Amino acid sequence: MTYLFLRQEETDMIDIHNRLSQPFAACINNEWIYSPICFDVTNPATGETITTVPNLGIAETEQAIEAAATAFESWSITTPKERSKILHKWFLLITEHTEAIAHTMTLEQGKPIAEARGEVSYGASFVEWFAEEAKRSYGETIPSPAAGKRLFTIKQPIGVVAAITPWNFPVAMVTRKLAPAIAAGCTVVLKPAAETPLCALLLMELAIAAGLPKGVLNIITSTAAAAVGKVLTTHPSVKKVSFTGSTEVGKLLMEQSASTLKKLSLELGGNAPLIVFDDADIAVAVSATMASKFRNAGQTCVCANRIYVQTGIYYPYIEVLKAAVEKLVTGNGLLTDTSIGPLINREAKDKVIAFIKDAENKGAKIIAGIPDTEADSLYIHPTIITNCTPEMDLSKEEIFGPLLAVYIFDKEEDVIALANDTPYGLAAYFFTENVRRCYRVMEQLDYGMIGINEGIISHAEAPFGGMKQSGFGKEGSRYGLEEYLATKYVCLNTTEYKN
Ligand code: SIN
Repeated sequence: MTYLFLRQEETDMIDIHNRLSQPFAACINNEWIYSPICFDVTNPATGETITTVPNLGIAETEQAIEAAATAFESWSITTPKERSKILHKWFLLITEHTEAIAHTMTLEQGKPIAEARGEVSYGASFVEWFAEEAKRSYGETIPSPAAGKRLFTIKQPIGVVAAITPWNFPVAMVTRKLAPAIAAGCTVVLKPAAETPLCALLLMELAIAAGLPKGVLNIITSTAAAAVGKVLTTHPSVKKVSFTGSTEVGKLLMEQSASTLKKLSLELGGNAPLIVFDDADIAVAVSATMASKFRNAGQTCVCANRIYVQTGIYYPYIEVLKAAVEKLVTGNGLLTDTSIGPLINREAKDKVIAFIKDAENKGAKIIAGIPDTEADSLYIHPTIITNCTPEMDLSKEEIFGPLLAVYIFDKEEDVIALANDTPYGLAAYFFTENVRRCYRVMEQLDYGMIGINEGIISHAEAPFGGMKQSGFGKEGSRYGLEEYLATKYVCLNTTEYKN
């Protein structure tokens, strides 16, 4: 085994700049796979090519599934404690190499370096959490209705898992799937987003250094998402598919998985409402709005997408919000004062510009930020747009950019109806100092996750997942492990028959 990032015989990271200037390899069976056919990984801040990565296809995906299936035979019967030890070592190595991983992330994804460091820590927290949860895959004993029968359940790893991850969190979305799968005793084929494969390959190397046996984790790098996705969702050896991405692709993967009836976890799109009631604490509401909306330049599924503000607090809230938005600095994420990095690609920027134009045509007003719509760069200055209405495109779709769309409302029951008027149901936020309203509103919002007086709700310890067309299945928390376990029910007859 030759190391890609680490010095031979050590777990000391080599100079990352030096390493990034050479071609990268995918990984099957703990072997680095090179290919003459590669694709470029580019820096969205500069448009420059960072490095190249093998562009693998159907044959290599099948090979990776076979490696994972073979590894499952031995990995699935290791003890939870053995798996826990390897995961714990992996967690320590990720933490130790925070700087190199964060730097790589900013280069390939664009987010500010401080956010990238925060993501490495968030991503590592899933590995730490599931290193512990590995030891808690309890079955149960069931009181029997029949004399002599003993009823109980055991939990067993489900089998080979296909994990398909997005570009917006190149570390955390990977570890949120891999750590529980590996903890449960499953083996994995990972297809990271083509925009951000480097962090996943770094994690792979650290996993090998932590002692992960061959075939337990395999990484297919590819731009042929449809072809690779088809193999992963139809191959009979794959027992579970975990996907984070758009609702449209999630539906296709679900359809394809039907022929072999795979277990699915789908973390899909969102359209999060954020409601500020008259009795909210303005400072709390503004700081949470900023954190939720502008994390990763607005490119998160749980980002506040529609800001509803009650009439009585509207002007004071907007004034404080505008002052906070005007302090944000757009730029290359490697510069320490940058708070908003570039969008991931031209398509993402064009989509945000189209939302602004459509909203302006329908009567909305820009009150902060002058979007530089013509420039070649992928930056969008943080923008506040008011007088928004449900007819506007930005009200119906995920914005995925630093554009803050504000609506005004009068009554609690009206805003609940507006907030729920979407096919999505991932996250919702509201701000109030009234404890009765907290319960009342929380229970009526059709969302899988609710933040009350808080804009950042994701933690390894808490169940992340949506309702409606935002998908199903939970990631993180004790529920996250369940997604990779099969429950086997056993009925044992203990009656002694005497002749
Ligand atoms: C996402 O955008 O899908 C993930 C955000 C998070 O984990 O908080």
